[in-house]
Amino acid sequence: EMDFQYEETDEKERMPNSEQRKWEEDQMSFAQLRFGAKDAAKKKKTKEYEIILDDQIEFIQDHAMPGNQKEKEERLTETQKKKISIEETKKSLPIFPFKQDLINAVREHQVLIIEGETGSGKTTQIPQYLKHAGFTDDNMKIGCTQPRRVAAMSVAARVAEELGVKLGNEVGYSIRFEDCTSERTQIKYMTDGMLLREFLGEPDLQSYSVMIIDEAHERTLHTDVLFGLIKDIARFRKNLKLLISSATLDAQKFSEFFDDAPIFRIPGRRYPVDIYYTKAPEADYIDACVVTILQIHVTQPLGDILVFLTGQEEIEVCNEILTDRCRRLGSQIRELVILPIYSNLPSDMQAKIFEPTPPGARKVVLATNIAETSLTIDNIIYVIDPGFCKENSYNARTGMESLIVTPISKASANQRAGRAGRVAAGKCFRLYTAWAYKHELEDTQRPEIQRVNLGNVVLLLKSLGINDLINFDFLDPPPHETLVLALEQLYALGALNHLGELTKLGRRMAEFPVDPMMGKMILASEKYKCSDEILSIAAMLSVNSSVFYRPKDKIIHADTARKNFFVPGGDHLTLLNIYKQWTQSGYSDQWCYENFIQKRSMKRARDVREQIEGLMQRVEIDIVSNDDTAQIRKAITAGYFYHTAKLSENGQYKTVKHHQQVMIHPNSSLFEDLCRWLIYHELVFTTKEYMRQTIEIESSWLLEVAPHYYKAKDLEDAKSKKMPKQRGKARDELVGGN
Ligand code: CDP
Ligand code: MG
Repeated sequence: EMDFQYEETDEKERMPNSEQRKWEEDQMSFAQLRFGAKDAAKKKKTKEYEIILDDQIEFIQDHAMPGNQKEKEERLTETQKKKISIEETKKSLPIFPFKQDLINAVREHQVLIIEGETGSGKTTQIPQYLKHAGFTDDNMKIGCTQPRRVAAMSVAARVAEELGVKLGNEVGYSIRFEDCTSERTQIKYMTDGMLLREFLGEPDLQSYSVMIIDEAHERTLHTDVLFGLIKDIARFRKNLKLLISSATLDAQKFSEFFDDAPIFRIPGRRYPVDIYYTKAPEADYIDACVVTILQIHVTQPLGDILVFLTGQEEIEVCNEILTDRCRRLGSQIRELVILPIYSNLPSDMQAKIFEPTPPGARKVVLATNIAETSLTIDNIIYVIDPGFCKENSYNARTGMESLIVTPISKASANQRAGRAGRVAAGKCFRLYTAWAYKHELEDTQRPEIQRVNLGNVVLLLKSLGINDLINFDFLDPPPHETLVLALEQLYALGALNHLGELTKLGRRMAEFPVDPMMGKMILASEKYKCSDEILSIAAMLSVNSSVFYRPKDKIIHADTARKNFFVPGGDHLTLLNIYKQWTQSGYSDQWCYENFIQKRSMKRARDVREQIEGLMQRVEIDIVSNDDTAQIRKAITAGYFYHTAKLSENGQYKTVKHHQQVMIHPNSSLFEDLCRWLIYHELVFTTKEYMRQTIEIESSWLLEVAPHYYKAKDLEDAKSKKMPKQRGKARDELVGGN
């Protein structure tokens, strides 16, 4: 067993002399930083360096993930480091030698399962091979789905570059609220959710000759639903080729689901990765990340670092601390290029992670799960894995849905580690103990379909004329309770009638690529004559990242600016106020800057608003404006009446139907008010269950907008937990469908 702590002899062998000398100088200056020159000299003579950073984490090597026997352990060579031409890169990909075999297999079989390690070239190369083989002749398209927006965008950009065409022409992408394709598009990357929506307009996918369901192993909700739909289509459209592509493991399962479709395996190329665990659990994993990054930077040979965090906020915090520490260390350390990547990051920033690292510098990529399998960043040698991800969780009994930071699965941990061994032998530092890995991590993650609200998908399937959801061909069926609850919710929203059939309202709701509650809110704005305001609110709510900018050194100013936007009634109205003022400023960047507002979020809101506006016109809702905030709040209530909380005697909020305790988010404009009735946009679980984006309502509105759901006695003070008498019977009819 080897300790991670730096051993001189070991590294010497790997380094050319000049590097070595530079290295020792660096070590020296570091030591000076902490111990002063004299002590440093003394330290330098000892065989094992003490790591020179203020705090450090001790790692223990546990095991190595084996690479292929054929591949010798290598370090990055100069040629690997310098930017090689696109042609060379394409030829170097593991999939390249199989180009013709693959084309033949696609010609021969209608459905093909493709299995190959991440980075082998599946996503970027297969559509190009098939285009080359003539599958885009006669105006036919090759489609390729991705679970993540960022992947769809960045892969499309890469393929456009490889083919030397402008993105959006022959090669394009389509993600929610953004369509970057044209009449000429032959290769179309899209999120799995967008393909689902395409079924509404083109139920047999007639314009496609090939559909690739990529990253199938991710098992997102939309991908799982696509499996069932596409299997059905393939049966009557014999000329549609179907490729299910996945990184590992599940190929057999996919094959069985698609009537024993053949599996095409692309042999991987992988170098060994040494796995290190912390000796003790780390309480603060962000801090542990920062320390480990610096530790690697100071003690390990060049090679880029990939860090897995759970979301934008964490990435920003980590970025900030790391930048600050680097600044303080100044020229004592080599250049460290810090690059964030998450789904809301603007595309120009996203592209940066693929740029080559400047000579002598080290790149550290702070990523969400997106870098686990969807995106391949070259030259990663070190992976830092805190062991967490953000996961949807859904309680089918209460209908409460929230995003929770949870431990990853063993399968994920191994995928993450594997990212370090693509170009050379690598190292993976897990910020948890070996014991935790063995005993606390599940083997695999549950498919999303089993842990989210299905309202959206059920509405879509109903719009496609699929009425019998209980017998739909799911790869893994969702829990019965979840399906039933989705049906009940859609019934209460008025999207389904008591027989479970789509209503006119439901059909209109399905036009909007938003969840049914928001769809209902948008449609209700017609009745309450406030479509203009609701449009802005819907757009602002759809911008996932915060619109507020809160730099560390100006927190007080930023918070004051934020509070200046507060208006009576709650957060939705505050968001509306911000949007209105920004519009009045002429969409000014300067205005954003002065008011501590993220201009990028605002621009995105504006794009989203335009998209929704177009859809509103399609369902023939006039855009009219209304100053009466009660009307606006009623429209919101008409969509979100499930999300009602009530103040109880002890001064705490409880959800109305299930009496679950929830708190107002400290950032809310209502945080210091006591409102009797609240509607919240979403729940976020951190240390407690927090309601994010809340407005104050009157209880009588609930009876007005949701007479199927609320009865007067629900809204009395008595804590009746009894089910309505008729519910059992009504439920049978609803679920029975056809
Ligand atoms: O899909 P799979 O994981 O098998 O591989 P891929 O995404 O097609 O990646 C193949 C190669 O394209 C990798 O070397 C990536 O680094 C490169 N690539 C890139 O340079 N820029 C992108 N935006 C996407 C991929
Ligand atoms: Mg891929």
